[in-house]
Amino acid sequence: MVFFTLSTLTLGLAALTSALPSRTRDTTQRSNFSLALNAVNYLHLSLNAIQSSTIGIMDLIFERQCTYPGTPAYLNNTLLIFTPSVYGYPLGTPYSMSFPSVGDNYGYTVPVTAIFGENGNTGFGESNGVITAKLDATLESFFACNETLDGVDRFALKWGVFKADGGAPDGCVAAQLVESFNVQ
Ligand SMILES: *[C@@H]1O[C@H](CO)[C@@H](O)[C@H](O)[C@H]1NC(C)=O
Ligand SMILES: *[C@@H]1O[C@H](CO)[C@@H](O)[C@H](O)[C@H]1NC(C)=O
Ligand SMILES: *[C@@H]1O[C@H](CO)[C@@H](O)[C@H](O)[C@H]1NC(C)=O
Repeated sequence: MVFFTLSTLTLGLAALTSALPSRTRDTTQRSNFSLALNAVNYLHLSLNAIQSSTIGIMDLIFERQCTYPGTPAYLNNTLLIFTPSVYGYPLGTPYSMSFPSVGDNYGYTVPVTAIFGENGNTGFGESNGVITAKLDATLESFFACNETLDGVDRFALKWGVFKADGGAPDGCVAAQLVESFNVQ
């Protein structure tokens, strides 16, 4: 595990930001997209909603973009809505991004899921093609983490707080969610 100091962390996030393609777009029009991972050393991974063992809750995991184009998503007011398919069939109902509060507990992470309906978290937005979320504490961030979900090793989306030394929580890498418009 690489040891990050707060300054290398800041540099890392700056590198993530500057690595983004600059793009102008009419943001007044709601548009559908899928989400891709922007994280150091991880390329071409899409965000996908998959069924969990709990009805009404879908897990959000990263997969290779060439095989999994990513679950279609859009912003409605400040909800982040997903329109998942199961076995290629659109469920036809919206799911919304949800995660519990983590406060400012260093190194702590919680699962990010897509829950049935429009009861997910509010406060999402987009800035230069990157999804923004409401922060309760400055060191909160999205992370991509090695997790075992329903007995399967996954690279899952989580929300959490950097460690006191500025490093990502164990098994995780700091992540940005970038809008991708290659969705069909
Ligand atoms: C976005 O997706 C929704 C649900 O599939 C669809 O109803 C809507 O027309 C799409 N909007 C655009 C701008 O493509
Ligand atoms: C957007 O949110 C409003 C208010 O909850 C809802 O009535 C509407 O159906 C939503 N539209 C889409 C496309 O999700
Ligand atoms: C996740 O696990 C893989 C396989 O063990 C490893 O190569 C990778 O570095 C891990 N990622 C993180 C963020 O810990």
